Amino acid sequence: MLLRQRKPANAVREKIDEAIAEKLDMETLCSSGKSFHIADFGCSTGPNTFIAMQNILESVERKYKSQCPTSQIPEFQAFFNDQASNDFNTLFTTLPLDRQYLVARVPGSFHGRLFPDSSLHFAYSSTALHWLSKVPEELLDKNSASFNKGRIYYSNTLDKVVDAYSSQFAKDMEIFLDARAKELVAGGMLVMTMPGQPNGIPCCQTGMGMMIDYLESCFLDMVNEVSTPPK
Ligand SMILES: C[S@@+](CC[C@H](N)C(=O)[O-])C[C@H]1O[C@@H](n2cnc3c(N)ncnc32)[C@H](O)[C@@H]1O
Repeated sequence: MLLRQRKPANAVREKIDEAIAEKLDMETLCSSGKSFHIADFGCSTGPNTFIAMQNILESVERKYKSQCPTSQIPEFQAFFNDQASNDFNTLFTTLPLDRQYLVARVPGSFHGRLFPDSSLHFAYSSTALHWLSKVPEELLDKNSASFNKGRIYYSNTLDKVVDAYSSQFAKDMEIFLDARAKELVAGGMLVMTMPGQPNGIPCCQTGMGMMIDYLESCFLDMVNEVSTPPK
């Protein structure tokens, strides 16, 4: 799974580089302190997060040198965030030896505050924000018109089910954006990448939809195996 995600990590490198070169407000940041704080929200166990961290650091350094040539390059502090149950031991025992940043872990859900006000310069999240904070309640309610019996996703289901997922995503994103807005310094930057679905293409025809349909059928086989009494 992580290797599959390395390709997108490299593909977005150019976009991030462009965004930093054009939009990161160094005038404000140059005068705001000695260290530059980068956080990866939903970092998992590596190695993609290390590649992203290095790419961001190099782009920021280039911008710094061009816009603040007389200032000293700041120290970089990388914060790795994921759920408390994430395998942070693997992450921290495989850190690149030649890294040019200090590290800290920040366990907890990104659907809430994780950092003090105005303390981050760059917030990053890759392929993590599509994870919802919970299954929408109506999908589990037998009496609801959106009851999603025997299903784990929204491909090939009722529009109401799609709406329930969509509205949970909107609520989660609002909470995420609200928290990051408080945590970022003025002039800081937030970069998010996540899987999407092209307009007009049904979910079951997308790579993600197909993968989850197979996963669902495996789960159903397992459930049927334990719920069918042996002959
Ligand atoms: C598919 S992995 C992506 C890992 C990495 N960012 C990459 O690009 O390879 C998604 C990660 O998001 C984390 N995640 C999901 N929901 C989260 C939440 N509410 N708070 C923090 N991390 C979360 C998961 O634990 C998982 O490690």
